[in-house]
Amino acid sequence: MSRHSFPAGFLWGAATSAPQIEGGRNEGGRGDSIWDRFAELPGKIADGSNPDVACDHFHRWHEDIDLMKWLGLGAYRFSIAWPRILPTGTGAVNSVGLDFYDALVDRLLEAGILPFPTLYHWDLPQTLQDRGGWAERDTAEVFVEYATVVTRRLGDRIRHWMTHNEPWCIATLGHEEGHHAPGHRDPAEALRVAHHLLLSHGWATEAMRRDVPGIEVGIVLNHCPAFPATDSEADRDAARWFDGFFNRWYLDPIFRGSYPADAIADRVAQGHLKGHDLPFVKDADLASIATPLDFLGFNYYSRAIMQAGPENRPVAVKTVSPEEFTDMGWEVYPLGLYESLLRVHREYGPSRIYITENGVAYDYPVNPDGRIPDPKRITYLHEHLLAARRAIADGVPLEGYFTWSLLDNFEWGFGYAKRFGLFAVDFETQQRIPKDSAYWYRDVVTTNAVNDTSTPTIQGESRACNP
Ligand code: FCB
Repeated sequence: MSRHSFPAGFLWGAATSAPQIEGGRNEGGRGDSIWDRFAELPGKIADGSNPDVACDHFHRWHEDIDLMKWLGLGAYRFSIAWPRILPTGTGAVNSVGLDFYDALVDRLLEAGILPFPTLYHWDLPQTLQDRGGWAERDTAEVFVEYATVVTRRLGDRIRHWMTHNEPWCIATLGHEEGHHAPGHRDPAEALRVAHHLLLSHGWATEAMRRDVPGIEVGIVLNHCPAFPATDSEADRDAARWFDGFFNRWYLDPIFRGSYPADAIADRVAQGHLKGHDLPFVKDADLASIATPLDFLGFNYYSRAIMQAGPENRPVAVKTVSPEEFTDMGWEVYPLGLYESLLRVHREYGPSRIYITENGVAYDYPVNPDGRIPDPKRITYLHEHLLAARRAIADGVPLEGYFTWSLLDNFEWGFGYAKRFGLFAVDFETQQRIPKDSAYWYRDVVTTNAVNDTSTPTIQGESRACNP
């Protein structure tokens, strides 16, 4: 079988986030985050668990860096917990929190692993939520304070920074659908939240670059291509609607300095906006949001198949066989990674892209030999890497790939039942066990290549709705 190499210098990594792995809730002066409080509400976390201990990474980070070394990683994407740095969100800085990341970063660098921190992976200090959270413009201002406290301390050693992770999830899952903290169901509020997140990204980018010249700043967007369930005009419009709501609502302001007019019209029709002028957008906001990125962080898991639905709200449907779905209920669709990368490259032209998340939840048991064979994860990763490589061959400036995730971890509202890790975690003993996919990924990382299986799933073209 032939091997497909990636370009020399391609960066191989794995990703995690603070609220999903750290634990140490009440340690080292950390304040509560909105996820700590959300998990205390009955019924919010499917398995009744909470992130208080998670993977206990707060105490086991040395061991976790050893796992990264064993994999041969060139980079590690993690997030910094705002409530560890500023326990009440603003004002007093908790030096113990800064020391924790300082030591982590030094040890990563000693191991030859580049740190890729995300400043906000959904753990808003609860005190800020009590004042209105991301629905308030003030929160964008205090995010700049937080961002600069961190970059002033760590910017001498870290080149690559990401402001936010997946603003769509924060706005929609947290404020429109109520599945994520803070659990609101207010579509008009979700639009304000999205804008304040984008604004805080733009302001923080400007401030961080001023403070620490030479750093590179990006944002992480999740991309989900939309397909119409049938060729009917109504279903094609449903796919356009989803694309506007999920992808373009974030890509357009960042790369073009404007919100997409068709998606604004959808929100007016749904009653989420009173008119076409967005009342929360002030002069100069869009110019800040469109501050050029050094790179785009790109997360990809699956696609959406859309059908017209009631009350101007299209619905996602499942049109393929059940074995195509992961434990998250997400369809495996590697071609969508290739097409989405190409689409973003052609329509928005980011100077560089890193795939900052891609991976899959499947639960496999430990077998009697102590191994965890997880063939479907290997297939998933393999096909997505072939799709990524095809995108590079077609001119996409893709410079790295971070798989989600290094470890099984706290998967938000699903608790610990959805297992995305290359390493299984026994949450009773905190033992880490490499899955077969960890051995497989180590081979990819160390050879900078994947086998060419001539898989049909990444070939050809599909018909995602890219208006
Ligand atoms: C993404 C999140 C990440 C993880 C994966 C499965 O949306 O950024 O924290 O939960 O999904």
